[in-house]
Amino acid sequence: MKAIIQTAYGSPGTFELREIPAPSLKRPDDVLINVHAAAIHAGDVFMMRGVPVFTRFVVGFPTPRNYIPGFDVAGVVTAVGDRVTQLKPGDRVYGTFPHTCAEVVVTRATKLAHVPSNLSLSEAAAVPVSASAALIGIRDVGKVRSGMKVLINGASGGVGTYAVQIAKVYGAEVTGVCSGKNEVLVRSIGADHVIDYTRQDFTDGEARYDVILDQVANHPLAAYRRVLTPSGRYIPNSGHSGMPFILKSMLASIFIRQQASTYFAEPKPRDLAALTQLIEAGKLKPIIDRTYALAEASDAFAYLNEGHARGKVVLIMPDAS
Ligand SMILES: NC(=O)c1ccc[n+]([C@@H]2O[C@H](COP(=O)([O-])OP(=O)(O)OC[C@H]3O[C@@H](n4cnc5c(N)ncnc54)[C@H](OP(=O)(O)O)[C@@H]3O)[C@@H](O)[C@H]2O)c1
Repeated sequence: MKAIIQTAYGSPGTFELREIPAPSLKRPDDVLINVHAAAIHAGDVFMMRGVPVFTRFVVGFPTPRNYIPGFDVAGVVTAVGDRVTQLKPGDRVYGTFPHTCAEVVVTRATKLAHVPSNLSLSEAAAVPVSASAALIGIRDVGKVRSGMKVLINGASGGVGTYAVQIAKVYGAEVTGVCSGKNEVLVRSIGADHVIDYTRQDFTDGEARYDVILDQVANHPLAAYRRVLTPSGRYIPNSGHSGMPFILKSMLASIFIRQQASTYFAEPKPRDLAALTQLIEAGKLKPIIDRTYALAEASDAFAYLNEGHARGKVVLIMPDAS
């Protein structure tokens, strides 16, 4: 099968399309999938850079070891292990787990769900990691409820476009922060207010927010606190912020009423089920910026690496029809 292999750390030019042996079922709860599409996200870019340095313990130390990037997938089941009862060959599935930029993948059944009936496989691949990060951030960490004022910093990106929609589902008044060129998009997915960060710094404004979901980490902690309500919650959800910033935010929560908490989005089956339900109800939709052929993975990474994707970037497999 064809797969993308990361050959070095640093730049997007380090991805190669190679022919490697296809995986097979190993455990009784495994599912084998013919991949149609795989999406990439900010986490893959950190793996590509090898920064933060702990990513190298996953990708390979000191150089990448046959590392296949990608955490998102949609495709068709071709075989299942003896203990799998909820999926069968021919089912369209999507899910999130490592090494998805390949024509064939194998994973545990609990990592998968049926593709929402109103999505194509390419659209479905754009959902799992970013939408579950948004769902867990808004629902579980932010505890967003009806009437709350929620600000999404980085509202036009992979996670942000889902976060805006999900915050609306939970009844929030949503402010999205993005550049002016993305204002129409962010309003179209439900934001009540949009702040163009090239013209206005939201941390200087008069508005106060119950929850700030921060995908960008471009302000000091004190500036975020200034625009939180007295019992508001700041969620540093950007890999760019660095561990010291996240720890400092969380430490401050011990001493003040305003809270900060981060999280690692590893969706449970109930999270994928919740996303499927929202999508099928027409309350949530993937925003796909660009699709690339698998062989163009380096171009896809170069684009994502610029930090200005409008929604998701998806790779399409060679034999996908
Ligand atoms: N907790 C988790 O498990 C988890 C899971 C997934 C991702 N994440 C984190 O989520 C963050 C966002 O990921 P992503 O995939 O959404 O990234 P992305 O798709 O690359 O998003 C980039 C977005 O950020 C916006 N942006 C850039 N500079 C900005 C600024 N100064 N102010 C406001 N917006 C700005 C861009 O909008 P413009 O083009 O308009 O500038 C662009 O739409 C990452 O740092 C990642 O580490 C966390």
